[in-house]
Amino acid sequence: MDQDFLFSKFGAKFRNQTGIGQLMEDLGNLSPGVSMLGGGSPSLIPEVEEVWKKILNKFTATGAWDSILGKYETPTGKEETLEILASLLSSETGTSISKEQIAITNGSQNAFYLLLNFYSGKFEDGSFKKIFLPVLPEYIGYLDQPLNPDSFTYSFAKEIVTGEDGFRYELDSSSFDTIKDDLGCAVLSRPTNPTGRVAKKEELELILKFARSRKIPFLLDNAYGFPFPGIVYSDERLFHSEGMIQSFSFSKIGLPGIRTGFVLGDPEVVKTLNKANAVLNLAGGNLGQYIALEFVRSGEWFRLSRDIVKPYYLKKREVAISSIRREWKGKLKYRIHDSEGAFFLWVQFIGLRKNISELYPILKEKGVIIVPGKYFYPVTNSGVSYGEDSIRISFAREDSEIQEGIRKIGEILSTYCPY
Ligand SMILES: Cc1ncc(COP(=O)(O)O)c(C=O)c1O
Repeated sequence: MDQDFLFSKFGAKFRNQTGIGQLMEDLGNLSPGVSMLGGGSPSLIPEVEEVWKKILNKFTATGAWDSILGKYETPTGKEETLEILASLLSSETGTSISKEQIAITNGSQNAFYLLLNFYSGKFEDGSFKKIFLPVLPEYIGYLDQPLNPDSFTYSFAKEIVTGEDGFRYELDSSSFDTIKDDLGCAVLSRPTNPTGRVAKKEELELILKFARSRKIPFLLDNAYGFPFPGIVYSDERLFHSEGMIQSFSFSKIGLPGIRTGFVLGDPEVVKTLNKANAVLNLAGGNLGQYIALEFVRSGEWFRLSRDIVKPYYLKKREVAISSIRREWKGKLKYRIHDSEGAFFLWVQFIGLRKNISELYPILKEKGVIIVPGKYFYPVTNSGVSYGEDSIRISFAREDSEIQEGIRKIGEILSTYCPY
């Protein structure tokens, strides 16, 4: 029987979703032989998997499975895990952080759904507040999260040429004054998905100054950054200051399947997140909280981040950039955003005769998946389409798959290029 009951606005929002929901489907349904340069999954790194095996074996040896599988944790989270995460963040930020400032979440995506809706939409005083994205493009995963349509406002960065085929988006704080919307929060991912940009400390301070002037929190997303997995190729460090709410994830170090992350914020924010967690999930998942405890307590978070994961992606980045330079030379005109972190390259093409949205099905058909740039721009009503000259390429896959995918992109796109 066809489902013909009416959905509420809330249901319709998900039913009509075409952004990340559709993309995750596309990324999940792959035929063999396809070069998958589109996903956000981290690599399966043997040295990392060894650590998970060791931790799981320890659970077996100590009989921890009964508690992990057989009982609900409180929505506040496992006490020892909160304590160890607070102590880790205290030492990494050089500020004193208590366990009351840590909320365990079922991944950062879940944390952002709550936070973005806490700090945007209709407020009790009758105002309607928006989410400010200080630099576009920004993470696709935020864009469909607000319950109210038209919840974003943004500013564009300056494009700085950094090399023969390189550029960087630099924060343009002078444009902040033109933001007339009522704001509820500012949001930035660092490293940024999709560009691999790592905002400099001075850039964070400028956003924070602006956020304080508007009396709004600054939400910083560290999914690829500090303290782990530490996929940052520049000299930047973790930074925390009053007025910031930060989110962290266990996914990109190699545990996307356990759906666990945590948030650092004021105790009031943390209490509210915990109450929302109780309503939505009853409690956070136990497995992630137990693994987190062992992972941080053993110091493996540091060894893996510094000695294994970062060097691993540095090599992959080299494979991807050198393949692009080799395969596309003389065929395509392009610029690569400076790769300062994460495992993506953001590539802008010059002079393509078709939009990337039109080329995406052709690329898919010919066996290479990328993410079209338009998904990273929440610009709805300006009449201008952004990101139609750009793609995000993941370099988390096998070297041969990265090389083959890049070769195919060069071959296909060059037929739409006047050079
Ligand atoms: C910038 C960014 N933030 C958050 C997430 C969500 O991560 P999690 O697996 O912790 O929900 C992702 C996932 O790709 C991401 O790229």
